[in-house]
Amino acid sequence: MPPSKPISELTPQEARGYQVFQQSCARCHHAYSEHGLRGPGLQHLFKHKYLPSGAPANDDRVSEAFLHGRGMMPAFGNKLDDQQVQDLMVYLHTL
Ligand code: HEC
Repeated sequence: MPPSKPISELTPQEARGYQVFQQSCARCHHAYSEHGLRGPGLQHLFKHKYLPSGAPANDDRVSEAFLHGRGMMPAFGNKLDDQQVQDLMVYLHTL
């Protein structure tokens, strides 16, 4: 599996996405491990063919999961604005 992009090399947009992740996702998901916390580890999220649920690992399915919520995961659709969602998605692609 190719390594995740180091935090020190993130572009400005990726770094903004990292901040969104820290604020909204990090309490339940590791970004740099595939080991579960409260939810599955998200390292290599887009490098795998499938998400933990078995859905294809693409932008639509990933954003749908956190915008609408899933199981014990709350919905973030009303908590993040469009820019934050875009920044977060760009960041998730670095993992
Ligand atoms: C309160 C804890 C919690 C928070 C906060 C949280 N998640 Fe989750 N997340 C979960 C749990 C639990 C699952 C497993 C849900 C299931 O399939 O039952 C999950 C699943 C996922 C999945 C896998 C979906 C799939 O189809 O397998 C992704 C991607 C994800 N979360 C991304 C995020 C992102 C991005 C954020 C921040 C915006 C976030 N999560 C915030 C708990 C959380």
